[in-house]
Amino acid sequence: QTLTSRTLEGLAEYIKSGKASRIVVMTGAGISTSAGIPDFRSPETGLYANLARLNLPYAEAVFDISFFRENPEPFYTLAHELYPGKYRPTITHSFIRLLHDKGLLLTLFTQNIDCLEREAGVPDDKIVEAHGSFARQSCIECKQPYPEDDIKRHIAAKEIPRCHHCKGLVKPEIVFFGEQLPQAFFENRTLPMHSDLCIVMGTSLTVQPFASLPGATRERTPRVLINKERVGGLGNSADDVLLLGDCDDGVKRLAEACGWLEELEKLWAE
Ligand code: OAD
Repeated sequence: QTLTSRTLEGLAEYIKSGKASRIVVMTGAGISTSAGIPDFRSPETGLYANLARLNLPYAEAVFDISFFRENPEPFYTLAHELYPGKYRPTITHSFIRLLHDKGLLLTLFTQNIDCLEREAGVPDDKIVEAHGSFARQSCIECKQPYPEDDIKRHIAAKEIPRCHHCKGLVKPEIVFFGEQLPQAFFENRTLPMHSDLCIVMGTSLTVQPFASLPGATRERTPRVLINKERVGGLGNSADDVLLLGDCDDGVKRLAEACGWLEELEKLWAE
């Protein structure tokens, strides 16, 4: 047994004893809901339950590349609402930054496209944006990069940007259904094997191949799920710890048990 007990205290003891020095964190939309960004699949509040106004054939079409080619408008309506800049990182984002500051973060795998991890100060080279992000955009036809200022202007004006070279549709480099994940995902997907603690937060773990990452840890590596609901079979292994509930709450409890709460709150208030 790696953990003395599968509780918050057992976990804090494991971290404080120095046994966790290569932590991988895996995140999803649930870590940004308290920032005001809806997640996808929560029954009442999730994005997919609130897209009727976009007249989609099915909710996920808004992020489907074939649908986008035919009808880019629903995506751009949403992009107008979700475009980074108006949201502030949550204390959960700051917790990931704290792990980095303490030299404990091996890598963060995120499915989020809101760039809030970076904004919280997690350095670029520690983040694998598995589903891309709004940080870059390009033409879906000729692949030419498209200027950030121009896309910002078009999104703010509720217009659909077109490539300056070939007039093709421009799309932020978010991974749509039907598209490959970025190279960085495949280059780093074995890192969980080299970790000594895996923290999964705010994701339903329903979208592959991301959902297989927690299973890529070694057998006795402790895995922690900090989420409103139990997902992805976490809790089934002997060294899994479940902190079910709100993730801001969960990371605060964990920070407190590690003696880091004051530091975390200070970092978040910066
Ligand atoms: P989901 O909406 O599928 O899952 C969010 C999870 O976070 C759910 O399990 C919620 O219960 C939980 N949750 C929500 N708010 C929370 C909170 N405050 N505290 C703790 N837990 C909370 O979002 P993802 O798993 O990120 O892909 O979705 C995966 C992918 O599906 C997304 O990256 C997106 C989507 O289609 C693309 O756009 C390509």
